[in-house]
Amino acid sequence: MGDDGFSNKDEAFQAFDDIPLSPPREDTIGAIIARRYSRREMLKGSLGVTAATTLFGTAALTSASSTAEAAAAPAAFRELTSGIDETHHVAEGYQADIVIRWGDPLFKDMKPFDPRTLTGEDQARRFGYNNDYIAFFRLNRPGTRGLLCVNHEYANPEVMFAGVGGRPDKNDFAKITAAHVAVEMAAHGVSVVEIALDRGKWRPVVGSRFNRRITALTEMTADGPAAGHERMKTKADPAGRKLWGTINNCAGGQTPWGTYLTGEENSHGYFWTDQKGPDGKRLTKGIGGPLQKTNERYGIPSNWYSWGRFHERFNVDKEPNECHRFNWIVEVDPFNPNSRPVKHTALGRFRHEGAETIVNKDGRVVVYSGDDSPFEYIYRFVSRNRFKPGDKAHNMRLLSEGTLSVARFDADGTMKWLPLVFGTGPLTPENGFNSQADVVMYARSAADLLKATPMDRPEDVQPHPTSGRVYAMLTNNARRRPEQVDKANPRPHNDFGHIIEMTSPKGDHAAETFTWDLLIKCGDPRVAEVGAMWNPATTADGWFACPDNCTFDAQGRLWVATDQGREWARKTKKADGLYAIGTEGKERGLSRLFFRCPVGAEMCGPCFTPNGQTLFLAVQHPATDGVRDWQPFGRDSTFEDPATRWPDFKPDMPPRPSVVAIRKKGGGEIA
Ligand code: FEO
Ligand code: CA
Ligand code: CA
Ligand code: CA
Repeated sequence: MGDDGFSNKDEAFQAFDDIPLSPPREDTIGAIIARRYSRREMLKGSLGVTAATTLFGTAALTSASSTAEAAAAPAAFRELTSGIDETHHVAEGYQADIVIRWGDPLFKDMKPFDPRTLTGEDQARRFGYNNDYIAFFRLNRPGTRGLLCVNHEYANPEVMFAGVGGRPDKNDFAKITAAHVAVEMAAHGVSVVEIALDRGKWRPVVGSRFNRRITALTEMTADGPAAGHERMKTKADPAGRKLWGTINNCAGGQTPWGTYLTGEENSHGYFWTDQKGPDGKRLTKGIGGPLQKTNERYGIPSNWYSWGRFHERFNVDKEPNECHRFNWIVEVDPFNPNSRPVKHTALGRFRHEGAETIVNKDGRVVVYSGDDSPFEYIYRFVSRNRFKPGDKAHNMRLLSEGTLSVARFDADGTMKWLPLVFGTGPLTPENGFNSQADVVMYARSAADLLKATPMDRPEDVQPHPTSGRVYAMLTNNARRRPEQVDKANPRPHNDFGHIIEMTSPKGDHAAETFTWDLLIKCGDPRVAEVGAMWNPATTADGWFACPDNCTFDAQGRLWVATDQGREWARKTKKADGLYAIGTEGKERGLSRLFFRCPVGAEMCGPCFTPNGQTLFLAVQHPATDGVRDWQPFGRDSTFEDPATRWPDFKPDMPPRPSVVAIRKKGGGEIA
């Protein structure tokens, strides 16, 4: 265990060092066909059974389907009824308990939470806002103690602070003070909190020596090609290696060596300029200067938050390089509260949704990550060095060096991983790339040159733990025009999203060429114009829109969380929620609703404990998104007048983003 700070062997127990390498998978031609073309598509005739039989013979198809039938048993639970109201709901036979809420104290001798008197200093010792990705690290063998690592993606000042009003123009910061910004900055980042299972309920261990808050101010370092690069240097850090803070932490990952990865997603939104246009508003384009072109490719400047008014580093006029120090993947060692988080620049700079890891069969570590914007790409990182079970210090350097690639999906059902390597192909000085540091820092522009496939907003990209397949959530892309569709992004004005399945050859996640198929196309299957594709057994409660985060349970079954944003009423008339989806055999593409959020919230962070008996979920931004369209309320929420006061339902407490633990009544594995 060495560097994790433990002396007691049992206390130091982690589930990770004994994880087997991902086994190879039998790849018959029939299995490939069956995977690439779902049963439904075959029956529909896009690849007719007759045609497939003619091409590949019945034996291939038979062996494929018998492989599929042998897959994990379908998730067994009575499906929840869809709908939307002021609270959460879980399938019958399960209990959903609140584990921790925004503002709950992590340390001893703290006052009860009062949002009216909250300061930045106080918030930095409490659970942050807008919980997103969740990871659970076991602390003992029975799994009754563990560390919960949770991302805090962003702030919703309109329901966090008294007196700031509804802010119908979200860029109107007239009422946002320096004190508000201090709270916002401390409410971002990551929480590490020990939790313990006590009589069937998970509770935070207040004052645990592991408890930690990482915020927009926490000191960290960078490694990899861009560490120390000219564009990483600032007035406060002339060496370009000492950084402060992580922001807009969306999804992430849990490494096999027991560390936590957090993805900096919409970090661009915090960097503004003082330059204003004729309408008096801050410019988001055309500010001139040498960085204009590269910054605009990343959406910088922007003005989602007013941090630039109080902190020069968030003002691109005053500190032009600070923006290059965000949009990375950050590694945190939750077992060492004094450790400095590391931004691994080798994994590229873009709007990282998450970073899900798998140990390849040759021992190299593979990390998948999506860039969540319309027409952006899916990336893969393969480490140069191999995972060594039990050698945490070695393993914590695996993400420092390796090959970043970007995905191109071809119409014939194959896909290629195109390496982003300086000096190869177009990644040369003639095109503005002078080093590998330039390539990772401007990964988006490098991927443009390699002609990667622009996707419908890639969110979570999740490898199945053993099958060699990888699932990418493509949440939506209303901007795709009919002439821009391709086989992998087949619908124009894609309001509803889809899930793409990528299959590595014989389970080799480092291979150059994969195959791919669509798992589902989301939206209402009863409306022909939607063009949805589901297993026909999917019910009116089970279909959904806008897949975002996902995970696999202990048995290797896929669970998908949704984020419809403010358009839920137009898209589905359902609250966001969590769905179990079959990926194999008769259950392939069959979706069933397990949990739904209170109004205005999105569903994040699905995370199962290793024994499969607890499912942690993050309910993010309750009472905010699209509450005008919820008829019992019909207006924008404010601190004083929110659409719901979930989960406390106390008249003086605003809604609070919270982590929920779901367990089976009477115990046992979920579903
Ligand atoms: Fe933070 Fe892409 O969701
Ligand atoms: Ca997300
Ligand atoms: Ca995930
Ligand atoms: Ca989201």
